[in-house]
Amino acid sequence: MTEKDLLSLEALLSNSPHQVSLLSNAAAFLYEKLGDVCWVGFYLVDDKGDLYLGPFQGRPACVSISRGKGVCGTSLAEGRTLIVPDVSKFPGYISCDAEACSEIVIPIKDNKGNVRAVLDIDSSSTGRFSEEEPAKTEIALLEKAAEIVAFRILK
Ligand code: SME
Repeated sequence: MTEKDLLSLEALLSNSPHQVSLLSNAAAFLYEKLGDVCWVGFYLVDDKGDLYLGPFQGRPACVSISRGKGVCGTSLAEGRTLIVPDVSKFPGYISCDAEACSEIVIPIKDNKGNVRAVLDIDSSSTGRFSEEEPAKTEIALLEKAAEIVAFRILK
């Protein structure tokens, strides 16, 4: 994942007004560009403030996650990126795929700062996502990718 990939993502998300189409392509793009990942997708915030499954790449996953539950629901409640190098150490982790060993969840916010969706990425390698380099630099790029997605889908 590079700065150049962010430009490609922007271009990819400029050709449709439909949220499902844009999120589907964003998930496919990130799944292809990121190495060593087993699931990339979006959970969207519903009318009650909980999460429901959106477009993704990977195995079938949980269709709904309550606000405050699991990594995704905690990221939603706290409005911040959660980096989980070892999912077995995250209290309340929701296991959708026994293969997943590390995970990152990045909130997608509207221009008022409200979380409207989360980007969830899983890896079958422990420590794939961490605060250490080179993961740290890649995570900064993923946060920029989440901003691009927000801008394109929340117009
Ligand atoms: N592990 C997530 C649930 C979603 S799946 O990883 C696709 C969580 O704890 O929120």
